[in-house]
Amino acid sequence: MLIYYTATTLDGFIADPDDSLDWLLRQEGEPDEAFGFEAFMARVGAAVMGSTTYEWILAHGAGTDEPWPYTVPTWVMSSRDLPQVEGADLRFASGDVRPVHAAMREAAGDRDLWLVGGGGLAGRFADAGLLDEVVVSVAPVTLGSGRPLLPRRLDLELVETARGGAFVSSRFRVAGPLQEDRRQG
Ligand SMILES: NC(=O)c1ccc[n+]([C@@H]2O[C@H](COP(=O)([O-])OP(=O)(O)OC[C@H]3O[C@@H](n4cnc5c(N)ncnc54)[C@H](OP(=O)(O)O)[C@@H]3O)[C@@H](O)[C@H]2O)c1
Repeated sequence: MLIYYTATTLDGFIADPDDSLDWLLRQEGEPDEAFGFEAFMARVGAAVMGSTTYEWILAHGAGTDEPWPYTVPTWVMSSRDLPQVEGADLRFASGDVRPVHAAMREAAGDRDLWLVGGGGLAGRFADAGLLDEVVVSVAPVTLGSGRPLLPRRLDLELVETARGGAFVSSRFRVAGPLQEDRRQG
């Protein structure tokens, strides 16, 4: 199962226009245990992210001050040549997300696949019918602009929700393109 697991503002941004996450990192407490990062990661066998997210992690010390934070094989999607992090299991890819999904599936066995972000990449997987779930922890913040959570027209089904710390967390199953669009199509 491919799961887009992330934190978001109330108005649907995962980072501000300058890619700052200060609004998130200063929040009180943690999401409810059922939505906690450690429990989530225990079920994950592979991850995928776009280059802005990758470069954010590098800019915040991975590969220099600190080791790469994830042990699972991680695909980085980019049209550019990006620096490697020594000792990290990174695989670079570009273009069609379907072969990336197949390779992740192969690497992960029966474990879940984590879509780290951003929203455009999540949208590409959703377009291909490969995005199964969206799990969001909403921080009590609005930004007005920034990096969008999921810039697509989709129907989702609410499966589970919980409150933890400053966050309200929810798990949604992706049902598919918005019903209104399917009727027109
Ligand atoms: N709130 C949270 O918990 C959370 C979670 C994750 C990320 N974030 C933050 O949110 C921001 C996300 O940035 P973003 O919206 O720009 O998204 P992103 O997916 O991290 O980066 C987008 C870039 O990745 C490359 N890319 C994506 N898909 C590709 C494909 N199929 N083929 C080739 N290249 C592809 C493209 O750049 P190039 O081709 O130029 O490389 C594209 O401009 C970052 O600041 C990140 O740190 C926040």
